[in-house]
Amino acid sequence: MAPQDPTAESFPDLLARRSEFPILEHTTYLINHSLGAMPRKVYDNLREYADMWATRGIRAWAEGWWASPVETGNLIARIIDAPAGSVVMHQNVSVIQGFVASCLDYSGPRNRIVYTDMNFPTVMYVWEAQRRHGAEIVSVPSRDGIGVETEDLLAAIDERTLLVPISHVLFQTGYRQDLEAIVARAHEVGAMVMADCYQSTGTVPFSVTELGLDMVCGGSVKWLCGGPGAGYLYVRPELRDTLEPGLTGWMAHAEPFAFEPGPQRYADDATRLLHGSPAVPALYAARAGYEIIGDVGVERIREKSVVQTERFLARADERGLTTRSPRDPARRGGTVTLAVEQAPAVVKALAEREILVDCRPNVGLRISPHFYTTNDELDACLDAVVEIVETGAWKAHATQASAY
Ligand SMILES: Cc1ncc(COP(=O)(O)O)c(C=O)c1O
Repeated sequence: MAPQDPTAESFPDLLARRSEFPILEHTTYLINHSLGAMPRKVYDNLREYADMWATRGIRAWAEGWWASPVETGNLIARIIDAPAGSVVMHQNVSVIQGFVASCLDYSGPRNRIVYTDMNFPTVMYVWEAQRRHGAEIVSVPSRDGIGVETEDLLAAIDERTLLVPISHVLFQTGYRQDLEAIVARAHEVGAMVMADCYQSTGTVPFSVTELGLDMVCGGSVKWLCGGPGAGYLYVRPELRDTLEPGLTGWMAHAEPFAFEPGPQRYADDATRLLHGSPAVPALYAARAGYEIIGDVGVERIREKSVVQTERFLARADERGLTTRSPRDPARRGGTVTLAVEQAPAVVKALAEREILVDCRPNVGLRISPHFYTTNDELDACLDAVVEIVETGAWKAHATQASAY
């Protein structure tokens, strides 16, 4: 008999929640870095939203819809250890970056935005566009295409730096940046840090308060299992009260229903960070995932993620496959990569076998277990990758394009 695997399905409390995710009944779901599985409760939440509109009509605003950006933000606050009332909901990270950009003044000597070449591109697109308002962009290159040396980034942050809008975990390789060192350096020279935690919130535990982060943003599509249309923004409360966003609106006014003409009179709480009417249905949908992640606890999710990704990479080594993700789990988020040729075609061949992963240029396959993933599913994925590569089964799907 084969020796028993000491890590075999050893997180029964987490696996017990599998039944809350319909897709797991028939699909090996390893694409949690891209679109987390939908919690069954989303059906109820969207029905509740529709029932409220249908039966309460205009009264729905006062009975919960107006408050939803901050109330929903409170569910995120619990996950990232932020004070209640310090997180608001927007639509996505791109809008949030543009919103923060609209708060800043680039006319003085402190006009530099410093990040790395491995930031998620949407963040770069927004900041590059601020050049027209006087911002100077400094993008620190990666030496190895896996991560960016912390010392390289720290060296680029100086007294001319206004903001460091940076990914906590890199979307391509899962490389985890050293936020403690980045915040310490930025604050030493009077700069601010905004962490894009899209690839960490819900899989890597962190405390915005302990890290002393100035701002944090992310979305709900991935590890939070919240679906599209719900991005979150945390701003350190003392900083928030000094910001005067240019992208603003009546929801950010101290008295929205006074309908005052003239210049904005900003609210003195988190609603200062809003603009117009909120995307209410997306917030109803998103809450189910936030509640589950908050209840399960990110510490526990991380414990399982490290055990499973280490196990997966060790087995990939045995099969002769290589990774472009950091080997030290302390430097990784929840995703691991497998460097295979023809990755988009391999993704399609896996999908045909009901195994969902994706791929990115220069890294190959991105594979991510979540708290509901079994070891058997990861083994099945690895077996299928080996089979598809060795038999040339990918050829039936030859394509250059990635569908997601
Ligand atoms: C780190 C990171 N930031 C941002 C995004 C997406 O930005 P947005 O919310 O604007 O679609 C992604 C992935 O899609 C991401 O991985």
